[in-house]
Amino acid sequence: MTEEQIRDLLEAFDLSAYVEASRIGGRAQLPESIRGEAAELYRQVCAFRVGHSLISRDLDNVLELAHRVLFPEWFFSENDIPRYRAYTNVGVLNWYLRTVRRTPYQEIWTRCALAIRMLLQDLIAYEVNSLAGLEPRGSGSFDERAARDRVDRLKALYTAFSAGHPPAGPTIDAPPASWEHYVSDQGSIHALVYLTAFPQTVEHDEYLFLRTIHVSECCFWGILTASLAAVESVKRQQIRTAATCMGVALPFAELLTPLFQALKTMSPEHFRGFRDATGDASAIQSRTYQLMQIALTGVNADTIKVITGIDELQDLEGYDQPWFTSLAHLAKSIRSEDSSHAPMLTQHLDALSKELRKWRTLHHGIARNYLSDIPQGTGGTSGPQYLKHTVQDTIAQAAEALRSDVRNPQPRKLDQYRDENLWPEENSVARRLGQTQPVLTPAN
Ligand code: HEM
Repeated sequence: MTEEQIRDLLEAFDLSAYVEASRIGGRAQLPESIRGEAAELYRQVCAFRVGHSLISRDLDNVLELAHRVLFPEWFFSENDIPRYRAYTNVGVLNWYLRTVRRTPYQEIWTRCALAIRMLLQDLIAYEVNSLAGLEPRGSGSFDERAARDRVDRLKALYTAFSAGHPPAGPTIDAPPASWEHYVSDQGSIHALVYLTAFPQTVEHDEYLFLRTIHVSECCFWGILTASLAAVESVKRQQIRTAATCMGVALPFAELLTPLFQALKTMSPEHFRGFRDATGDASAIQSRTYQLMQIALTGVNADTIKVITGIDELQDLEGYDQPWFTSLAHLAKSIRSEDSSHAPMLTQHLDALSKELRKWRTLHHGIARNYLSDIPQGTGGTSGPQYLKHTVQDTIAQAAEALRSDVRNPQPRKLDQYRDENLWPEENSVARRLGQTQPVLTPAN
């Protein structure tokens, strides 16, 4: 196939009709013909990329986005039951955040923060428009009082997080028609808003659920990258930089609890209205969350047992090695006499630990309440029971790691880390496992 032919195929696919229909009617109700066409286009895009080692840059950019947007339709054509990555379109979110290629940490943090503002703004607009009777989406099970409470909470959250940044909403009110528009600098924000949230049903609160997942994913990325940066700084004894990085992680962590309080405005009955349609999708399958957890406290054996069947998470077990250094482990080597910035770093670590504990406890409460008559989570665990353990285990690990009277020896060979690049831990673990690619792959 030539570049012109694949371009023609992409152009022949009615992108705006697909987006519009998925957003309004729910993905599961899309006509079979459109779904089949999207799945077939995904196959063609993948085959073209495999068959061509040299592709024009502008076409390659389009193919990268197209394969992420179309992946869920291919997934659903091969599998009846949704899983997290296909259900949430998280591949498109990661594309927007630029975490799918080597990108400076600062740029990722900026994009995470901007994405959070955009997604909150989009969710607020959805609720406000629904209250005004102007929203064509999410017509099922609408509770006006809950929506009002939700809008107040989301607005407060937006204001607190935005701290003076002007709103930067999309200036268009319908999904753009061309792939080229979405991959342009200005259009990528439209991709974030229009190509990430395709609910399965028309239940009103499923949109809230999906957007809560997307905002949480941005927070996980912020915490993950800040923690990786802090780990590398501590290894080089740059304690001030490490403290600054952990200062970056904090606002992302602080967002999680109020965000889930807004999610709690959804009643358990409304949750049950769409829960079955989400199949086996569970955020335990979130690769970003799992990487964050590993960066913070290392591999948790209970979690690994549950996620080993999931293709994109298979390699995470590779971190269960004595040479892998988690932030909690490294924190024990910090001595206050080493740097005047050590107390600041410890303070930030402590604050991060507290924020995550608060969120985990709230999340566990939500699971207990919403799944009171269902003993299993969609991710195949014992549900609330499992979460109870992960809350306790994680806190116990972190608390132990951060105890001021426990000290690890200083890392010995600091020079060995010098030539590492953006994802040093990923690279070194991948190398040792004999993989050719770092663990952050385009599939992520
Ligand atoms: C009504 C809403 C929710 C309920 C009832 C719920 C329930 C659960 C349950 C039962 C689990 C255990 C794994 C499983 O078997 O599925 C879990 C895990 C998880 N959930 Fe939720 N959840 C909800 C919303 C969310 C949202 C919006 C996010 C945001 C991304 C999220 C993030 C997570 C994460 C990261 C895990 C893995 C936790 C770990 O392994 O420690 N959850 N959830």
